Amino acid sequence: MTERDLEQVVAIENQSFPHPWTLEHFREELCSPHGFPLVAEADRGGVAGYLCPSLILDEGEILDVAVSGDFRGKGIGRLLVASTLEFFREQGVMRVFLEVRVSNQAAISLYRSLGFREAGCRKRYYENGEDALLMDFIINGVEHAV
Ligand SMILES: CC(C)(COP(=O)(O)OP(=O)(O)OC[C@H]1O[C@@H](n2cnc3c(N)ncnc32)[C@H](O)[C@@H]1OP(=O)(O)O)[C@@H](O)C(=O)NCCC(=O)NCCS
Repeated sequence: MTERDLEQVVAIENQSFPHPWTLEHFREELCSPHGFPLVAEADRGGVAGYLCPSLILDEGEILDVAVSGDFRGKGIGRLLVASTLEFFREQGVMRVFLEVRVSNQAAISLYRSLGFREAGCRKRYYENGEDALLMDFIINGVEHAV
């Protein structure tokens, strides 16, 4: 992800989430020493989807991922998450976390299909009072600890 992707990234973000990240928030991810945001490019060079990971010491987190409505169901979400897991593995990450709305079945099935496990629940985590499912993915053989 680069500065010139941000207009399209924010448009996808706005169509994907009730409380979207702002342009400024994505800019901070571009500058953060812990952020490694990436985009999936469509054939004509537009942004089809993106993912913002965070990497601190040996822990990874998936902070934000979305695919443009026109491109959903074509394997792009899977590609973004799988590529990020591979990146984390190369960086020596032991464990990856994410939070997802309990109602977000599409995302939950994507994460499960890639090997994420349910690791806990954060009650009333979202602004509308919805719970967050905490999921984790173990790399490099450490045991499930939550
Ligand atoms: C979740 C999201 C990123 C998935 O991206 P995608 O490119 O459409 O997903 P893929 O085509 O790679 O699908 C991969 C898997 O996800 C699951 N999945 C995707 N869409 C689904 C749907 N509508 N219903 C159920 N499962 C679905 C399936 O397990 C699918 O595997 P399969 O094709 O073998 O059945 C996309 O729906 C999205 O942007 N949603 C809005 C933003 C969001 O909710 N982000 C996650 C926040 S935690």
